[in-house]
Amino acid sequence: MLILGIESSCDETGVALVDASGSGTPRLLGHALHSQIEMHQAYGGVVPELASRDHIRRVLPLTDAVLAQAGLPLSAVDAVGYTRGPGLAGALLVGSGVACALGFALGKPVLGVHHLEGHLLSPFLSADPPEFPFVALLVSGGHTQLMRVDGVGRYELLGETIDDAAGEAFDKSAKLLGLGYPGGPALSKLAQRGDALAYKLPRPLLHSGDLDFSFAGLKTAVLTQVKRLAHASMDGPATTRLADPLSLQQKADVAACVQAAIVEVLVKKSLAAVKLTGLRRLVVAGGVGANALLREQLNAACAKGGLRVHYPELHLCTDNGAMIALAAGLRAQAGLAFTGEEPFAASGYRFDVRPRWPLAELAQPGL
Ligand code: KG4
Ligand code: ZN
Repeated sequence: MLILGIESSCDETGVALVDASGSGTPRLLGHALHSQIEMHQAYGGVVPELASRDHIRRVLPLTDAVLAQAGLPLSAVDAVGYTRGPGLAGALLVGSGVACALGFALGKPVLGVHHLEGHLLSPFLSADPPEFPFVALLVSGGHTQLMRVDGVGRYELLGETIDDAAGEAFDKSAKLLGLGYPGGPALSKLAQRGDALAYKLPRPLLHSGDLDFSFAGLKTAVLTQVKRLAHASMDGPATTRLADPLSLQQKADVAACVQAAIVEVLVKKSLAAVKLTGLRRLVVAGGVGANALLREQLNAACAKGGLRVHYPELHLCTDNGAMIALAAGLRAQAGLAFTGEEPFAASGYRFDVRPRWPLAELAQPGL
């Protein structure tokens, strides 16, 4: 079964083709991605209307590119998976509309996929795929969650952020330091030449005794620290470009401290989740999963505790079409429907999106 996957939930248009024949892990036959980062950079963040319009321009040429990579015609596609949510409503509607139109034109079924399920399952496309059950740390720009995963569609939420997501904490701190958007990669690059012990930043909820996260306070602490440094260097009120008076070394030190604080919380809570569940396997997914310090510290902690840790391939950490095609393929193989819905909207190709959609809603009771 050949499945075309379309991702358009935010600022990346991703298309991919997987072969989900039989019961083996679906195989990636081709994938293509267009990142809108450059377009949004001028605004310091994603402009939803611009995002939607750009998805419209990109999605069909990317589909053609993927089919060319795989050396297959569109008519070879057996089903189309698309990101149904969560994400930006207008952006989701583009992928959903195109997927349903393709499905209708081909007379093939269409499946709306949960974006986080895509991230969660993305390590199955890596050279070292995990086995069920495992604990998953989902760390993206919009979500920070710990889940117990017993199989495809068998997800139990163990803890999540009560305010900002980890990626948001990276992005907002980067903005305060005058770094570009998205902030995570820029901040972690700058942090390499910084001293992670230079300033004291909080580790929110580290000892809360549960598996929840909170990163909003960290952003405020960074703001306070940056203001303090700006005042000291200017001997007066901070300018509107807050970080401008800071030296590159000061910025690097703040970046290193922010990264160390976020990573420490993520590592300790992940290990606590593994301990609580008694499982021996951890899977890390989502954009922040590309962070080198997070990987380094998790690798070390898991090696010490005799645990296995799995990541998606680096280029599949951030949003992409491959994870959506894969999730659709795994769901199809498992014969799974979304709760209360048909798995494939074969009748009517009614397209809808879920800009807000808790992953726990996918849990299959009784499985
Ligand atoms: O999963 P993703 O591509 O999109 C969402 O579903 O949100 O994640 C994007 C997030 C952004 O906040 C970005 O700053 C962060 O992932 N990110 C990183 C790194 N690469 C991407 N954060 C820290 N270090 C990185 N290397
Ligand atoms: Zn994502």
